Amino acid sequence: MPSPIIHIDNIIKTYGPLTVLDGLSMSVMPGEKLALIGPSGSGKTTILRILMTLEKINGGHIEIDGEQLYHMQKAGGLVAADERHLQKMREKIGMVFQHFNLFPHKCVRDNITLAPMLTKGIARAAAEARAMELLDMVGMADKAKSMPAQLSGGQKQRVAIARALALSPKIMLFDEVTSALDPELVEEVLNVMRKLAAETDMTMLLVTHEMGFAHDFADRILFFDKGRIVEEGKPDDIFRNPRQERTQTFLRKVIAAGHRV
Ligand SMILES: Nc1ncnc2c1ncn2[C@@H]1O[C@H](COP(=O)(O)OP(=O)(O)OP(=O)(O)O)[C@@H](O)[C@H]1O
Ligand SMILES: [Mg+2]
Repeated sequence: MPSPIIHIDNIIKTYGPLTVLDGLSMSVMPGEKLALIGPSGSGKTTILRILMTLEKINGGHIEIDGEQLYHMQKAGGLVAADERHLQKMREKIGMVFQHFNLFPHKCVRDNITLAPMLTKGIARAAAEARAMELLDMVGMADKAKSMPAQLSGGQKQRVAIARALALSPKIMLFDEVTSALDPELVEEVLNVMRKLAAETDMTMLLVTHEMGFAHDFADRILFFDKGRIVEEGKPDDIFRNPRQERTQTFLRKVIAAGHRV
């Protein structure tokens, strides 16, 4: 039995007086495709941002790929991770956001080469060759020299995916990556994610309101409410036979709002 690639143990996250995650624990196996669903404000983005070290935790432990994320071993004990440790751990994880956050003054190719050259010291020629492979994979090779402002939303998001892949992460996090897109552009981005799921053994965590996509893509669905996992299971079980009242209510609402399940 392999060990989990992500192990979240009893984490607490507060914003001032607000406790967003109150003793959350969960594990993700290597290669697993996980969809996080749940109402607005339930903590889905917070979990991804914590894994990406964009937010600090107030308690608990997280292990990524066999190593503590926010702690490190020192003199036989665990101490808070320093910036160098966080930097090293960050390379294991890539994240794609709802709003693409591309560097506006860099062309598509340079958006992708920047991090590998700066953080890993990869030579320009090698970084550019890899960028072109990734752009080819997301169907954007012909736009390598374009500026972000010249791209459609779907194209920007495909570049953002290529950029996140450039550091060869073991884990990819996707936070509502299609929800800012015009409907006709959604499918081209979902197709890239389908391809990644099919052709790589990356572990993928997806936050989405696209229930149809979550159903097809995920090995396991986690339904969150108020910072807790209310229900989890295989897509067919969660979507066809949700056991918990709160899951049923949520699914009724998203279906009423026109989302396909
Ligand atoms: N920087 C912040 N400062 C204060 N409160 C925050 C901050 N970020 C998030 N929160 C609060 O934490 C809770 C969880 O937010 P989070 O963004 O994780 O929810 P979500 O499940 O991603 O929701 P949505 O589906 O709307 O994206 C919410 O109550 C939110 O208002
Ligand atoms: Mg969110």
